[in-house]
Amino acid sequence: MIRMGMIGCGSMSGSHLAALQPLESRMRFTAFADIDVARAERAAALVPGALAVADYHAMLDAVDAVVIAVPHDLHYRLGLDCLQAGKHVMMEKPLALTEAECRELIAADRSPHPVLMLGYVMRHDPLWRQFGDYLRTEAFGQVFHVSIWTEQFTDTTRGAWIGQASRLGGGQLFSHGCHYIDLLLNWLGNPVCGTHIGTNRGTPWMEREGTSDVSLKFASGATAYHFGTWGARGSRLRYAVHAHCTEGMLELDHAAGTITLHRSRTDGDLPAMSALAAPGESPDEPNRAVVYRRPGQGGKAVVQQMEAFLDCIEQQRKPTVSAAASLRSLQVIWKLYEAEERMQVADLRGI
Ligand SMILES: NC(=O)c1ccc[n+]([C@@H]2O[C@H](COP(=O)([O-])OP(=O)(O)OC[C@H]3O[C@@H](n4cnc5c(N)ncnc54)[C@H](O)[C@@H]3O)[C@@H](O)[C@H]2O)c1
Repeated sequence: MIRMGMIGCGSMSGSHLAALQPLESRMRFTAFADIDVARAERAAALVPGALAVADYHAMLDAVDAVVIAVPHDLHYRLGLDCLQAGKHVMMEKPLALTEAECRELIAADRSPHPVLMLGYVMRHDPLWRQFGDYLRTEAFGQVFHVSIWTEQFTDTTRGAWIGQASRLGGGQLFSHGCHYIDLLLNWLGNPVCGTHIGTNRGTPWMEREGTSDVSLKFASGATAYHFGTWGARGSRLRYAVHAHCTEGMLELDHAAGTITLHRSRTDGDLPAMSALAAPGESPDEPNRAVVYRRPGQGGKAVVQQMEAFLDCIEQQRKPTVSAAASLRSLQVIWKLYEAEERMQVADLRGI
């Protein structure tokens, strides 16, 4: 039974606590730390006997592993402290604020003794994983364009640090967009060049951008686009992911948990689309078929992420989303930010 600690009991801690029941045979949250000790106490109240402390050093003897979910400027110091104390660490993304800090954490990474895994939760969602598999294996032909659209409303009610570039490490792109840059690199391979244009118009609480437009080109020739905002006062699409392939367009619907193939340039071939449809799906249109549906109720990727962390600890395996692997998406973002300041296209070759 792995004794898990949580450092930082803010908005993200509730998501991690979702793993409590499904994984109760493998782990227990035995301690919670937050400088706002009332938050640690509120979380600890959910687990009989759990410790609540203001200073995370006071909980280290009571845990084998920790989830670090604190403001980004603290990731480096806390991560290093916990690794040096021999604790397995699941660090919320992004790894740290600068390349030098990231490289120090990578140098301190002795995975799996102890494990250092990054919390890029989408990497564990079966829907997003399947989408990536379709693209990497060219299941629907060559991929030539992917777009990822995310609309959220995130202001400083979650914590003043969200708006501060020096604590967040940048703006919306660095904090939330890093998920999608990571996925695009994972799906499409080596980037060649790209641009970022951001604004804080509409999100005046953000020192840096609250809204981002990213364009990327990859060595395969594929291009990609990511739009993300923290200023959405309303939304129809919320999350929309489209991949144009030479044999059709794939659409990931995060809320519905589906991947749909659209083939509107053919005359329509219902038998062919039926053959491609996922088990139990019957296409009612010759131009469209659900090819994958996420099993179960969905929304539990954070549990699957915790399972992956426990697998690494128990089976002494290195994590797929390692500190080193997670640096790549941050390097892209830093180069995009630098080029934006110079009003140039970023050269991303070699990342
Ligand atoms: N994977 C995702 O989709 C996702 C979503 C939201 C947040 N996050 C990540 O989770 C992390 C935390 O974000 P959040 O939204 O929960 O922030 P938050 O502001 O809601 O919570 C942060 C908590 O850390 C506490 N804290 C600050 N300094 C501390 C210290 N020295 N020791 C212990 N606790 C301390 C704060 O009091 C607060 O309770 C960030 O890395 C963020 O990027 C990930």
